[in-house]
Amino acid sequence: MKIAVSGKGGVGKTTISAFLVQALADRGRQVLAIDSDPSPHLARALNFPQAEDIRPIAEMRELIQERSEREGSFYRLNPRVSDLPERFMRQKGNIKLMVLGAIQQGGAGCACAENAVLRTLLNTLLLSKDEDIVIDMEAGVEHLGRGTIAGVDHLLVVIQPYRGSLETASKILAMGKDLKMNHLEIVANQVHGREDMNYIQENLGVEPIGIFLVSDEVREAERAGVPIYEAGSTFGKSAQDLLDILEQMT
Ligand SMILES: Nc1ncnc2c1ncn2[C@@H]1O[C@H](COP(=O)(O)OP(=O)(O)O)[C@@H](O)[C@H]1O
Ligand SMILES: [Mg+2]
Repeated sequence: MKIAVSGKGGVGKTTISAFLVQALADRGRQVLAIDSDPSPHLARALNFPQAEDIRPIAEMRELIQERSEREGSFYRLNPRVSDLPERFMRQKGNIKLMVLGAIQQGGAGCACAENAVLRTLLNTLLLSKDEDIVIDMEAGVEHLGRGTIAGVDHLLVVIQPYRGSLETASKILAMGKDLKMNHLEIVANQVHGREDMNYIQENLGVEPIGIFLVSDEVREAERAGVPIYEAGSTFGKSAQDLLDILEQMT
């Protein structure tokens, strides 16, 4: 199963991604975690050793330059990336981690050649047949190329029960509809109770397929710098419930 986790900064993408990765690993699956956030924290959230030393591929200027070399006035649409997973993948138990860093949107000031390298790498990783994949990514669907959209089974949009978050989610849902994406799902985070769920229902008109409550354990673990994942915690159970639902849908 291939899951992309998107949403506004700070909504809880990295936290939810980390729990999904670990919950899949707990089920005995081989999992590939991909961090495609501009400020990548998934390594830390997954408690990888020396997490702070892992350099995102997006920041390896020389390597990217070399792979995105222009041919005449065109840049390569299919830069060579096949050796990169082996070179830069980290592994811990049955979890593999690849830290890509930010893939920028096309358009003005776009570093298109560089982005072609990262996008090709992401799409190559998505072809993996033997692993479940969880991608932690910034922002909405407009950042995803068609190849990426086609490569994932579920594109989760994480929201919080606040006006700004729901407005962003509405835009993403509308865009998803335009792109004919029928695998776009809402996941609610930092929910306090029924009132929050009613607020989401009234303002978004879409029922979240997963709900994560505000968690003191997560908050405290994050602050103390200790592993945030706990299989038996309320958050851990919510991650398992969400996986069950996603698997039924796949
Ligand atoms: N349900 C929750 N309860 C309490 N704290 C949470 C919850 N979800 C996320 N957090 C905290 O909120 C902050 C932002 O979460 P993070 O996963 O880093 O968001 P994002 O990756 O979307 O920027 C982190 O400090 C995280 O520990
Ligand atoms: Mg994050």
